[in-house]
Parts: sequence; structure tokens; C-alpha cells
Amino acid sequence: MGKVRYLGSKARLVQEIINRVGFSSEGRFIDLFCGTGSISLAAGLNNWKVSANDTLLAAATLTSAKLISLSEAKFIKLGGYQSVVNDLNNVDLEEGFFYREYSSSAENKEMIERPYFSIQNSKKIDAIRSKIRSLAQENLINEHERTVLLADLIESANEVANIAGTYGCFLKKLSKNALSPLLLKPRDLLLKKIDWAISQEDALNVNMEIEDTVYIDPPYTKRQYAAYYHIPETIANDDEPDVSGITGLRPWHSKASDFCYKTRASVALDNLIKIIPSKRVFISYSSEGHINEQDLMKIANSYGKTSITYFENFGRYISNKASSNHAKKNPLTEFLIEINR
Ligand SMILES: C[S@@+](CC[C@H](N)C(=O)[O-])C[C@H]1O[C@@H](n2cnc3c(N)ncnc32)[C@H](O)[C@@H]1O
Repeated sequence: MGKVRYLGSKARLVQEIINRVGFSSEGRFIDLFCGTGSISLAAGLNNWKVSANDTLLAAATLTSAKLISLSEAKFIKLGGYQSVVNDLNNVDLEEGFFYREYSSSAENKEMIERPYFSIQNSKKIDAIRSKIRSLAQENLINEHERTVLLADLIESANEVANIAGTYGCFLKKLSKNALSPLLLKPRDLLLKKIDWAISQEDALNVNMEIEDTVYIDPPYTKRQYAAYYHIPETIANDDEPDVSGITGLRPWHSKASDFCYKTRASVALDNLIKIIPSKRVFISYSSEGHINEQDLMKIANSYGKTSITYFENFGRYISNKASSNHAKKNPLTEFLIEINR
């Protein structure tokens, strides 16, 4: 999952899931809800031609950065990746959008303090954003290189964010993490070149063919990713949206997902499977999700022959000791359904 703690990430289940998907056959592997891209990467390493998709640009950026190979991001004009990262880590601080909106910088009473970052780190994020922007404008980095750097910034900002896991809200007092200085770290770019493509569509609008293998990993709780990851989304978009209210969310309602509403989730899933022409479809879901297992199987069974695999004792997202004890008694079960038409 890289360094971003992403709700519903399959990072810990990658091997189990990809073992069931297997090695590349005909067609592409389509990761319709790619999130951080853990499954897309595993499929690519299993020789699949990968098409990844997510409505969030932050997710598309994190996924692309996992699929981009060294040969696509050599940073030739700037003396290599490590040298660019060193330069970015040494930029002069700037007082920009992150400083104003997402730090405890409020200089007067009308400003709202939103300490998602320490003042120093907010200025560093502003400075690194400006620098990546000017490198791209001057054509010193290509589009893949820009994507890698933005993903690096999303991940390193996440390490020093003053939050409890997601960007749903900030902590009142700066945490120990938040006080350490933000530092970009170069990732290990892939030596193997993967044949990949990325899109940022509603899953319903993705082009799929009969011979493709489709993987569906939708949200399963009420937590809307566009709200819970609004800051990664702003870094990926490199914009300065109008933010408001205590938590300073960017406008996100246009990206609200039907899968996050208990009353809409099963219809949304049914409507999606209905339009998929592909012979093999996989669905990841959780026993704690909006759609219960029986209803899910009923939907799946109406489209073909199905099989289900359970992943018991999947370590769940816990925030305190009490819920940890609860988790031990009631292990969250994740499962994978395969439909063969
Ligand atoms: C459970 S997460 C996927 C996790 C991913 N497999 C991973 O390992 O990181 C669900 C993802 O679906 C995306 N999403 C929600 N509704 C969507 C829709 N209608 N179409 C495409 N993506 C959607 C969210 O932005 C989120 O990234």
C-alpha cells in the first residue's frame, strides 16, 4: 500500500487474491476500483496487461506510480531520480495554499486553523508542489515522472500528517509523527516494463471486453473516499480548491460513490455486473460491508457459475485497545467471489 493507510486496501491480501486470478491468459486484467494499486501491480508482475481505474485522481496517481517502470521515468534532463528528490527535499519553504488552509498558521481570528500538518511541513508541501509544477511547465520532466513525484509527495505527506489514519479530520494537538520533517523518498521503480493504462471513470463507464478478467473491489462502508482522502486528491490535482468548514474538505459530492450507501450498494453492484461482458469477474468484499453475503451471492449466482474464498482473521483497521480485543473475538472476514459466465 506504499505509505498511505488506505481504507479497504488489499495490500495484505495481494498474494491470496492474485493466486486465484492466476497468470495472464487472453485479454487484460481490469482493476475497476484500483485504490492504491496493490492488485494492479501484482497482476502486472504476473504478466497481465493491466487497465486500472478509479474515480479519484489520487488513487490513479498512486496506482500509476506503482506501474511506471524505470525506463519510463529516467529523469534524464535532471541527472536521475535521486538527484531530483534531493533537490525537492532542499527547496526553500513557501507560504502557499497548504500553509494557509492546512496548518495551524491562522494569523488572525477570521482564519480557521486546520492543523493537518505542522507549519514547517505545510510550507514544504507548498514549495515542493510549486517546484514539481515548474519542472513540468519547463518540460524538464515528462508526464510519468511528474506522476511519480506527486505520488511520492502524497506518500511522504501522509507520513507526517496530523491525522488518525484518514483525512476525515485532523488531530487537535500535533502528534509525534506530525512534528518530524517531511522527507521525500525515491521509490524502487520497476525494472520490468508492464503494459498498463489508467483511467479515472465511474466503473460503469469503463470499456471492457469478453476476453478481459475484471476485478471489482468497491467501497463497502459509508466512508466516502473523496472526503476521507481529500488532501491526497488536492496534491494529485495540483490545484487550490475552495475549501470550507472545520475540516476544510474540497468539494467532493460529485465523486460520492453509490457503494457507500447501504440503500444503494446492492443495486449499484448488480447494475455494474450486468454491463460487464467479460467471462471472468472477481469481487472482493467484507463481512462488515453494506451488502450481506447471502445477497451478494444471490446477485453473483444470477450471472454465472460462482465460487467463494474466505480470508479469515484479516487484521482490521483498529484505533484503540478496546476495538482490538473486539476484533480478536469477531474477526473481520474478507472474501473473494469468482463468477464464470
Ligand atoms: C476498497 S477501495 C479499493 C482498494 C484497492 N483494491 C487497494 O488495494 O488499494 C475502493 C476504491 O473504489 C473507488 N470508487 C468508489 N466508487 C467508485 C466508482 N463508482 N467507480 C470507480 N471507482 C470508485 C474509491 O475511490 C476507492 O479508491
